[in-house]
Amino acid sequence: MSRHGTTATTTIPERGTARHERVRQQGPNPVQADPLLDDRFFRHLVSHLRTGVLAIRRDGRIAVMNDVAYRVLGLTPGQDDAGRPFEDVLHDCGEVTRVLHQAFDTAALPSRAETRLRKTGRAIGYTLSHINDDAGQVVGATFVFKDLTRVEQEEERGRLRDRLAALGEMAAAIAHEVKNPLASIEVMAGVLKRQLTDREDALEILKDIIKEAKMANSIVVEVLEFVRPIQLQVDRVLLDDVIKDSITLAEGKRRRGAVTIRTSLDSDVPELLADPHQLRQLFSNLLANAFEALGGEGHVDITGRLELDDAEPASHDAEPEPPKIIVEVKDTGPGMGPDELERIFSPFFTTKPQGTGLGLAIVRKVVDAHEGRIEATSVPGQGATFRVTLPVVPSERSMGR
Ligand SMILES: Nc1ncnc2c1ncn2[C@@H]1O[C@H](COP(=O)(O)OP(=O)(O)OP(=O)(O)O)[C@@H](O)[C@H]1O
Ligand SMILES: [Mg+2]
Repeated sequence: MSRHGTTATTTIPERGTARHERVRQQGPNPVQADPLLDDRFFRHLVSHLRTGVLAIRRDGRIAVMNDVAYRVLGLTPGQDDAGRPFEDVLHDCGEVTRVLHQAFDTAALPSRAETRLRKTGRAIGYTLSHINDDAGQVVGATFVFKDLTRVEQEEERGRLRDRLAALGEMAAAIAHEVKNPLASIEVMAGVLKRQLTDREDALEILKDIIKEAKMANSIVVEVLEFVRPIQLQVDRVLLDDVIKDSITLAEGKRRRGAVTIRTSLDSDVPELLADPHQLRQLFSNLLANAFEALGGEGHVDITGRLELDDAEPASHDAEPEPPKIIVEVKDTGPGMGPDELERIFSPFFTTKPQGTGLGLAIVRKVVDAHEGRIEATSVPGQGATFRVTLPVVPSERSMGR
């Protein structure tokens, strides 16, 4: 998503009269400001706040609306928005108009309340305040809000980390206990096999025992691999190389058959700082799933692009987010229904007879270790899309520094 241009688009009518330019010092809430500051300064102040600001007059007309407000509400700034009734300008933001309608009906105004905007899907936290004139009369209201989408995502990631940590400890303990008896079964079956060379029927059974024990052992190894915390070995990575290697790796894991793959990376996708081994694991798991879903025929589209951040930071003093790359792996397979889609990243969720259900859990873990994001979308019968968002440069923390 790109920004709506680089200049701020605050909707505040120009007011050049001396009366407005004077900063009043009397009244119940005098503003302590330098008396030489003019209207323009206050316009710039509101424009450059990293919080959405929307002010209305008592008669319901818009007085001020800043750039962040337009962006978070998903609106395009109009030249003459200031002075128009807020219902007109915000006609498809029902959640906001409902709050503004209460502005002058109640003294208990919502403070630090939250709502989700249906139009953009963003969660916002808002406070509604009255604007009083020098005589204490209510002359308007301000709706000040912050985009909480990223805060929500960070909370969700934290919850997942905790869940995986608890699950990981348990799985590691079980896997450890199971590993030794399994190895014994395999060794003893081998010994027995050598002793029973003249018993064809027994040999067949022993072969099966050994095969099953090996399979169980590989699951245990996978589980242990999964629960081990990732220590990133960060290096410069060319996405193109990683994708090529991942295709080869996936072909080694699952049958590709006649599946065609098209890779298209935008020319402005920069080199990443990431763990190349982990990224190969990530994309090869996605591709292995796509191959399995396609069953030997169909198409996989891999696209990569650069995204410059436009969401609000989690807090005022948070650093602006670094640029990210978005890689989408899209197949033309049978896709998934919403119930399945909800569970696919959970460890051990699988719909395949031979599946362990750790492929996507590992994918998620790798993405998480890079402080990235992954989303899956699908319409049954119309394929599945996995969208991976990774920072071009991960934070010092994720690099273990
Ligand atoms: N591209 C896809 N199309 C349709 N379903 C998918 C796709 N990718 C994943 N799934 C679903 O998500 C489930 C979980 O995938 P995941 O990779 O975690 O485990 P798995 O492939 O079943 O087993 P393995 O541990 O061998 O990877 C799959 O069993 C499948 O139902
Ligand atoms: Mg898989």
